[in-house]
Amino acid sequence: MPYAWWTGCETRQAWKGRFIVAKLIYSAIASLDGYVADQNGNFNWAAPDEEVHAFINDLSRSFGIHLYGRRMYETMAVWETDPTLAGQSPLLRDFAETWQSADKIVYSRTLEEVSTSRTRIERDFDPDAIRQIKASAGSDLLVGGPNLAAQAIRAGLVDEWHLFFAPIMVGSGKQSLPDDAHVKLELLNERHFQGGMVYLHYRTI
Ligand SMILES: NC(=O)c1ccc[n+]([C@@H]2O[C@H](COP(=O)([O-])OP(=O)(O)OC[C@H]3O[C@@H](n4cnc5c(N)ncnc54)[C@H](OP(=O)(O)O)[C@@H]3O)[C@@H](O)[C@H]2O)c1
Repeated sequence: MPYAWWTGCETRQAWKGRFIVAKLIYSAIASLDGYVADQNGNFNWAAPDEEVHAFINDLSRSFGIHLYGRRMYETMAVWETDPTLAGQSPLLRDFAETWQSADKIVYSRTLEEVSTSRTRIERDFDPDAIRQIKASAGSDLLVGGPNLAAQAIRAGLVDEWHLFFAPIMVGSGKQSLPDDAHVKLELLNERHFQGGMVYLHYRTI
């Protein structure tokens, strides 16, 4: 039976007798001109300051399952494999603990093994499989990595968007959003931070 791996540890949510389907949320930190990394692969300008990190920590608590492209997974895995990160501050420890407690699916045709717990590899991105997970998950899903996210966006799977924009333009690089998607959005929330970052929360309509 497919996806028993998840359903064994998650319970369906029921509200007034109706099943609630979990949401898939795309989250990214991009430059103002829409790149998650510049043409040299640098994204140090996207590092959240303490205020933004605290906000992201709170957002992250609601994601029980993370879907990652292999590149984003390799960037994020340090939150479990490098314990010195969590040792730097209570804020970073909090994020590391939240990240480690989530289940992760890494999409890759090249990765032979994972370096973190609660993690499995998928060789193909199957939209129907994601729909099944959304129907059975007990909490919302996060998708990370613009290549993988673009496939979820094109398949109409992304329900909400947590988009952060850093106060910088980098001209070119890895686009946060695909250029071949047409999606209507409703703004649910917005926030600006002292360091100049802006957060936009949308839902797909
Ligand atoms: N702005 C920020 O805060 C921030 C934070 C972290 C990282 N970054 C940047 O973001 C970049 C990630 O961008 P990205 O779009 O290249 O990466 P991504 O979406 O995270 O990963 C792409 C990889 O995912 C795998 N994949 C994608 N679709 C697949 C499918 N249908 N089936 C199986 N595997 C699939 C492939 O891995 P295989 O090649 O193994 O098959 C592919 O090379 C990082 O490299 C880094 O530069 C930015």
